[in-house]
Amino acid sequence: MILSSKRILLVIAGGIAAYKSLDLIRRLRERGASVRVVMTKAAQEFVTPLAVGALSADRVFSDLFDRADEHDIGHIRLSREADLVVVAPATADLMAKLANGLADDLASAVLLATDKPVLMAPAMNPRMWSHPATCRNRTTLEADGVRFVGPARGEMAESGEAGEGRMAEPLEIVAAIEAQLDGAPKPLAGRRIIVTSGPTHEPIDPVRYIANRSSGKQGHAIAAALARLGADVRLVSGPVSIPDPVGVTAIHVESARQMQAAVEQLLPADAAIFVAAVADWRTADAAGEKIKKVAGKGPPSLAMVENPDILAGVGHHRMRPRLVIGFAAETQNLLENAALKLDRKGADIIVANDVSPEGGVMGGDRNRVRIVSGEGVEEWPDLSKDETAARLAALVAERLLPARL
Ligand code: CTP
Repeated sequence: MILSSKRILLVIAGGIAAYKSLDLIRRLRERGASVRVVMTKAAQEFVTPLAVGALSADRVFSDLFDRADEHDIGHIRLSREADLVVVAPATADLMAKLANGLADDLASAVLLATDKPVLMAPAMNPRMWSHPATCRNRTTLEADGVRFVGPARGEMAESGEAGEGRMAEPLEIVAAIEAQLDGAPKPLAGRRIIVTSGPTHEPIDPVRYIANRSSGKQGHAIAAALARLGADVRLVSGPVSIPDPVGVTAIHVESARQMQAAVEQLLPADAAIFVAAVADWRTADAAGEKIKKVAGKGPPSLAMVENPDILAGVGHHRMRPRLVIGFAAETQNLLENAALKLDRKGADIIVANDVSPEGGVMGGDRNRVRIVSGEGVEEWPDLSKDETAARLAALVAERLLPARL
């Protein structure tokens, strides 16, 4: 119950995503937080102060020069009587104002006056988001200590344009708020950890590829769990349909070779965890043009070559991280094969996972793993992928303790 009795000051700026802020208020209050809202003038064109006030069960603040407000609360108090200031949606305009220290309305004045952490959930047209001016402002704000959640890729409500700029979903923003307010110990603070996740796509031609059923859920959950313990997590993800976890730096790749290049670029690191279901083979030559179906010629045969083993490469690398963990996705002789993999791949731990179809692990939400290491085998019970991730993150923290150096 991280949010219980926490005070959130929510600044709603003008954008169509403001409708999602209504849901955000509801989610925060469900978790026991109190939410006080400041709306910009433009925000009121999208959602009414009446609706916002009803959901937050408080009056809504919007005017810098409202005598009554300035008399009894005022922008300074408003900005300090909170544990966290959240801006959702954060527009390009409001980002620009704070990056430059402007304070000509209540929202910007509160942001400039606060002594509390600020979290922004940007929402804007993809071109506005990628504009050099917005990029500069973001860099400035990050250097000033402002945290960001999102934006996500997606189609824009108003223009149908696709790209990065859609506001993070309310539950992702809640997770980012929880991460920010979480006062729990951070045993992995200052540790850089690489995590691979998801499947890889191996191209056959520009429109076809070979893939597998990995959803990325377990790898992403591990990345998130490590970040919650304070690690600087670099997540190298194959194509997945789930969002990047909060608080990690995600690098998106498609093929095994791209994944390998991304991972090796991230070395040195304190630990590396290989959860991705990397394709063992790729087509010998991906065709540059779409392969046509030719009448009477029959299907083409695909010559395959082996992909690099990314885990083994890092396990035997001259910059090998102190802790290297692999996963073994097996349908038979689970433990024997895991033990062999430890050696062959240069790993300290293999997390052995029974992926036989009866188990429903691939794409599912639960799994049952065994931890195989030089110290023996430890059986974990049937757990959700989030619980498995939390346990594994705790194990990583224990293994990286300075005492074990
Ligand atoms: N892995 C990797 N690069 C590859 C293949 C696998 O990094 N090209 C990693 C996976 O991320 C996982 C581990 O190796 O951590 C084991 O993958 P698995 O598919 O179980 O093992 P394989 O080496 O492919 O062995 P087998 O085909 O016998 O199952």
